[in-house]
Amino acid sequence: MAGALLDDLLDWLRIPSISTGGGDPADLERAAAWAAERLRAAGGGVELVRLGDAAPLVVGELRSADPGAPTVLAYGHYDVQGAGDEAAWDSPPFAPEIRDGRVFARGAADDKGNFLPLLHAACDLARRDALPVHVRVVVEGEEEAGSLAVTEWLRADARGADAAIVFDSGMADARTPAITIGLRGIVMCRLAVRCGERDLHSGLYGGAVLNALHVVHRLLAEVVPGPDGGLRGELLDGAEPAAEAERATWDRLPPGAEVLAEVGAIPSDAGAAAEFYERTGARPSLDLNHVEAGAPRTVVPATAHAAFSLRLAPRQRAQALRATIERLLRAALPEGCELELEWHTAEPALFEPGEPAIRLAAEALERACGTPPVLMRSGGSIPIVAELAAKGIPTIVTGFVLPDDPFHAPNESFSLTGLELGERAAHELLHALAALPRP
Ligand code: BES
Ligand code: MN
Ligand code: MN
Repeated sequence: MAGALLDDLLDWLRIPSISTGGGDPADLERAAAWAAERLRAAGGGVELVRLGDAAPLVVGELRSADPGAPTVLAYGHYDVQGAGDEAAWDSPPFAPEIRDGRVFARGAADDKGNFLPLLHAACDLARRDALPVHVRVVVEGEEEAGSLAVTEWLRADARGADAAIVFDSGMADARTPAITIGLRGIVMCRLAVRCGERDLHSGLYGGAVLNALHVVHRLLAEVVPGPDGGLRGELLDGAEPAAEAERATWDRLPPGAEVLAEVGAIPSDAGAAAEFYERTGARPSLDLNHVEAGAPRTVVPATAHAAFSLRLAPRQRAQALRATIERLLRAALPEGCELELEWHTAEPALFEPGEPAIRLAAEALERACGTPPVLMRSGGSIPIVAELAAKGIPTIVTGFVLPDDPFHAPNESFSLTGLELGERAAHELLHALAALPRP
């Protein structure tokens, strides 16, 4: 592997560009400037686009010598999740370390290490004036916080692209690359309940007054899954089961029971492991993320807060589901209580496996990895992908993260093999997409 790629990655990983709270905005700026500098050094045009107070979007242009070549948009994100409990890390999250053939650091897999090979390959080809396609590079700094700015930018962008490559997902297993043809959408909800002016003594008033924590329980009971793991009918609206032909391809994926055992998880119900891919790829799910209220003493809390998120299956509509949830919550709110809701949504995405760009990409990945990719759905969300789909831009979502690279968790890692495969795959993809119909 080009040592330059690894050195560059270690550099980028040292910048704690956290977008999920608790980070320093100056570090997001530094991480953006770092990516912009790579593009500039390769002779590309670069702009840092600032929308509102969002972290800057890095937008770069690398031109092919062939003016009539198709244009490919290459996307990644430079923001990372917070490190959580630093004591749970074997080495500090922002002091990258190489052990056992992997780089350990926050962002190693999601998404700096996963994306950098794509940026590197494009810059490399540009420097040698050997780009087979025009490349528009978009690196955003708030993917982990909902992608508002990049969504706004893309909606207003009149130029578009003939295809997009997103390096922000994973392989099926250590030998098998994947193209993620489906991603779930999301409706995130934060709620605040107020049921009184102040906290009260639970002995003097208990039994006679509303308790905000009880009210939050009642509201949440309207939306959380039942003991069989299933959601109420209204929340399934619009979700279609995966087609038989697509389901047949899941046989190439590791069995659901293995996937759950690998992370030490307990299946939510008897059917969960066997239906793992159907459940996470083709069905919505709701998870409670946070509840905060009261204190462990004899108090009746006057206020309570909670956060939950509904992952949307392909074809479900975020605004419709958001309205449904709001109706369910408000209907369960006792007289006199106040309910404040804060929302963030992203639409799901699903691409046709037969799409020419996907077919070309599948061949390219087979050349890079020696094994044909599986076309799979992932339960995660990448908000920009639905926007690309809405613009009719066929998008290849792929990447080289493995299930044992715990992104979003302590000891996040990315294998050096993943870096190498990523670089080869990026070269193959950029060459393969030159065969797209000319614009
Ligand atoms: N890269 C992930 C999503 C992902 C992971 C897709 C693995 C496919 C395979 C991304 O950075 C992520 O974590 N997205 C958030 C988006 C949310 C904050 C809107 C997610 O899914 O929680
Ligand atoms: Mn990511
Ligand atoms: Mn992420």
